[in-house]
Amino acid sequence: MPEGKKILLSGTQPSGRLHIGNYLGALRQFVELQKTHESFFMIADYHALTSVQDGGKLAENTLNLAMDYLAIGIDPEESVIFKQSDVPEHMELAWIFNCITTMPYLMRAHAFKDAEAKNKEISVGKFEYPMLMAADILLYETEVVPIGQDQKQHVEITRDTAEKFNRIFGETFVLPAPLILDEVATVPGIDGRKMSKSYGNDIGLFADDGEIESKVMSIVTDSKGVGETKDPETCTVFALHKFFSQNELPDIERRYRDGSMSYKESKEILAKNLKDFIAPLREKRKTFERDHDRVIEILKKGGAFARERAQKKMADVRLKVGTTLY
Ligand code: ADP
Ligand code: TRP
Repeated sequence: MPEGKKILLSGTQPSGRLHIGNYLGALRQFVELQKTHESFFMIADYHALTSVQDGGKLAENTLNLAMDYLAIGIDPEESVIFKQSDVPEHMELAWIFNCITTMPYLMRAHAFKDAEAKNKEISVGKFEYPMLMAADILLYETEVVPIGQDQKQHVEITRDTAEKFNRIFGETFVLPAPLILDEVATVPGIDGRKMSKSYGNDIGLFADDGEIESKVMSIVTDSKGVGETKDPETCTVFALHKFFSQNELPDIERRYRDGSMSYKESKEILAKNLKDFIAPLREKRKTFERDHDRVIEILKKGGAFARERAQKKMADVRLKVGTTLY
């Protein structure tokens, strides 16, 4: 473990398979950042319990996400890969944060407001989700939190919570900063909305060639035919080319505008580039699929390392809040 580097932590919920939006928006950064930071990559299984309420499924998703992390290139020799539930101090600290945070403050969180606006019933766990996330981050003296745009507010809540704790109980927590890749706007799904597993419009990060082809071919476009001028800026296929067809992009753009490219051809180019991009990731994942024991060992080792750190921090926190009597 490298010393003297900034501490970085990020987490992903094991709430389903990863898609290319998750990769481009968040996970891709992890691989590069682990070289320059002391990194913790967490599997947020207790966060996922707010939506996955099937024990077998949650366990399966957790193992899958560990393999995904490894397949994209997170190196367990360089970074700590662990699951949240292996460090019960996260839940303990989340409770303490619950006690210093007000309901109206948490009611301003986007996730809560969205649920309210849709008249959805929200569990207490979902409501206090940001407190557990604050605990995840603050337990490790984290300075950098690489995340997708939609998680920015959660890091702001984390900073507010750290400041509030420090104000009440004395200087304890380091204030973390979010790290969001500027150029990564939202990756659209095949229906043009934000790619999200909850919309069913996603393309799997480890999809096989058949899935890639059928998903790309079903991307929704307008009805402009061959020969007609097309607007790259409003086309979902083109938006994905920006991520996967860098070299051909100027040519594709020109041909959209002069009408010489059909949506069918554009999709065929995209499908080919996506297949080339995904194939090596899928192959690397297979090596872990054949060796679950190795994956479990990595998680156990990561969990033990993280827990030791978290316990040290909690000793200080307990002292400050007054639960250390002896
Ligand atoms: P989903 O919407 O599929 O449930 P999550 O909310 O679990 O995805 O997102 C996990 C991470 O991936 C987040 O940090 C999020 O910002 C990023 N992410 C998810 N979807 C996209 C997208 N379409 N474009 C860019 N980043 C995304
Ligand atoms: N809320 C994050 C998401 O849905 C996952 C997460 C949990 C997380 N704990 C974290 C991300 C701590 C960064 C740091 O994507």
